[in-house]
Amino acid sequence: MTQHLTVVEHPLIQHKLTIMRRRDTSTAVFRQLLREISQLLAYEMTRDLPLTTTTIETPVTEMEAPTLAGRKLALVSILRAGNGLLDGMLDLIPSARVGFVGLYRDEETLEPVKYYFKVPAQLDKRVVIAVDPMLATGNSSVAAIQMLKDAGAKDIRFLCLLAAPEGVARMKEAHPDVPVVTAALDERLNEKGYIVPGLGDAGDRMFGTK
Ligand code: URA
Repeated sequence: MTQHLTVVEHPLIQHKLTIMRRRDTSTAVFRQLLREISQLLAYEMTRDLPLTTTTIETPVTEMEAPTLAGRKLALVSILRAGNGLLDGMLDLIPSARVGFVGLYRDEETLEPVKYYFKVPAQLDKRVVIAVDPMLATGNSSVAAIQMLKDAGAKDIRFLCLLAAPEGVARMKEAHPDVPVVTAALDERLNEKGYIVPGLGDAGDRMFGTK
């Protein structure tokens, strides 16, 4: 991927996202739509994966058929909200390896605090897709990506549902080599670090914790 920010403006994604944003959308519907959107975003994100060929036999003849080249992809969920994107992506890429980065946002300082890190081996030989639904201040995403780089990852992409301009700018400054794919670029952050207009707390909405 060459562009730093890609907003996927597909009508199905935009329609589903509007339903997710609505205050009165239920947890069950929110979760289902997140799963569907993450499949569509994953489709866009993997558009440029390298292909090789393998010889197969169809019922009619032998052919050189395309298959994905290289090691299995690594999907890395930034806990806990990243898990909502992970499920849909695994529907589409079932053989992907999966990692988790546990960071929570200190509500006072808005700074990320690490509590868990477990990722697939040989990250340096894989395309690594880090997922977190909300690119808000960018603090936790930037920190998580730094941890992935420290673990050897070289080809990292970041997938989110909503991005704020502040988070995109922070990501570009800290990790200009990491392309960001999102369903929407919203207006701004509010004083509590929430994306406006946004959809509220993605973790609370998908897990029903509020
Ligand atoms: N995290 C969320 O879940 N929502 C926001 O608006 C910002 C960060």
